[in-house]
Amino acid sequence: MTEPSSYLGTTAGAYDAMAARYAEFARDYLDSLPLDRAVLAAFAEYVRATGPGPVAELGCGTGEVTAHLRDLGLDVFGVDLSPAMLDFAREAHPDLRFEVGSMDALDLADGTLNGVVSWYSVIHTPPREIPGCLAEFRRVLAAGGLLLLAFFESEGGPVSAFDHKVTTAYRWPIGELAALAAEAGFTEVGRMLREPGEGERFRRGHLLLRRGE
Ligand SMILES: C[S@@+](CC[C@H](N)C(=O)[O-])C[C@H]1O[C@@H](n2cnc3c(N)ncnc32)[C@H](O)[C@@H]1O
Repeated sequence: MTEPSSYLGTTAGAYDAMAARYAEFARDYLDSLPLDRAVLAAFAEYVRATGPGPVAELGCGTGEVTAHLRDLGLDVFGVDLSPAMLDFAREAHPDLRFEVGSMDALDLADGTLNGVVSWYSVIHTPPREIPGCLAEFRRVLAAGGLLLLAFFESEGGPVSAFDHKVTTAYRWPIGELAALAAEAGFTEVGRMLREPGEGERFRRGHLLLRRGE
């Protein structure tokens, strides 16, 4: 059985090794994904309506989504396990703050964020660890704060591991992840499914959630 610290170390090492290639892949990748941009824009609008508080992109990688959220008017910073990914993020976006950390144990006080984005970053978390991550997202969000999850959807199948290019990842039935989020104290605002585009293997799932009182 893989212990949590083991999967975190494996994930960080795998992204450290792939950081240069990832930075190349991710540069401007949102430009060709209008539905993804629409979800991020909706998240930003909901967050702005709650007030001017900070937003964290957890598992920010090389920082393209963090910068996109900044461009949407949010006071955003990034957190990631991989120091090498963050080196690229800081080089490309020197005006933004990026910190090394893990989304299952954040160095943040309770209730300090207005928004959390996990954009394809819970994908490497073993399914049994997901409730702990959701509880941590809830802990750092203020009441009424927004959570956006983007992930690979399982298209009618059960939660399943697959051979992601960097390291093992998991596909989720969107309803099952939504149910875990509800158990963790989130109310669903909306969901979006997108079919795979050119060069993509799987359907994409997006859940927009609000932290309850
Ligand atoms: C597929 S990349 C996505 C990066 C970025 N969000 C984007 O869309 O370009 C996944 C990222 O999540 C990070 N990650 C995975 N598990 C994490 C954890 N427990 N805490 C923080 N970062 C994590 C990885 O290091 C990697 O940079």
